[in-house]
Amino acid sequence: MIFETHAHYDDDWFDTDRNELLNSMKSNGIETIVNVSSDKESIEKTIALTRTYPFIYGAVGIHPSDCGELEHDFIEDIRKASKEDKIVAIGEIGLDYYWDNVERDVQKWWFEAQMQLAREEKLPIIIHSREAAQDTMEMMKASKAEEIGGVVHCYSYSREMAKIFLDMGFYIGIGGVVTFKNAKKLKEVTEYVPLERIVIETDCPYLAPVPNRGKRNSSRNLPYVAQQIADIKGISYEEVVHKTYNNALALYRMEE
Ligand code: NI
Repeated sequence: MIFETHAHYDDDWFDTDRNELLNSMKSNGIETIVNVSSDKESIEKTIALTRTYPFIYGAVGIHPSDCGELEHDFIEDIRKASKEDKIVAIGEIGLDYYWDNVERDVQKWWFEAQMQLAREEKLPIIIHSREAAQDTMEMMKASKAEEIGGVVHCYSYSREMAKIFLDMGFYIGIGGVVTFKNAKKLKEVTEYVPLERIVIETDCPYLAPVPNRGKRNSSRNLPYVAQQIADIKGISYEEVVHKTYNNALALYRMEE
């Protein structure tokens, strides 16, 4: 059974068939899902999803591209949300210099404040970092993120950078991009990172793997990601599914 470590089922794109789709997960081998928040509204929707579906857990936090309009004291609302029963992480948080639609100082304020919150609430962090490797790494070091723990989701950087995150004890989230023909760098990273430190994710509705590239993504596409990792590492599909499941339990501290 597969553990989906990063999904956005609160997204409008699922409005037409969300319930039907989520109810089809078990019969398609998807056992557990973590729904990840990105803004104020999605925090509420994530909590609602965790209350409706026994197999859905949640992460609460503000995405770097969504923190532009927020009052600083919203951090206390995130804290309150993080105390909900099935909330297992703070995320997604970080820096995004690709879209770069929010002032970098504002992004940094929220990244640091949410790392601090995660430390206080004893929750792991889900890091979103795009074209901001150096600043992300420096801020993690300054906040002693190795004591907080978590995952660098939808990993897109080099092998050298992966080593730094691994040395800080972080997991590496691998998604649909690994199946893309031109994803040479990510395939190299996947070969390099020990299976013990990989978790799989879709980031759905975005980033559908081959052969469904460009369509709406869902956790039901995760077998393509697991198979690609198995092929790259020269191990069985079953081993990838089994190990990444246990890794996800450890990452989100959900072991019985
Ligand atoms: Ni995401």
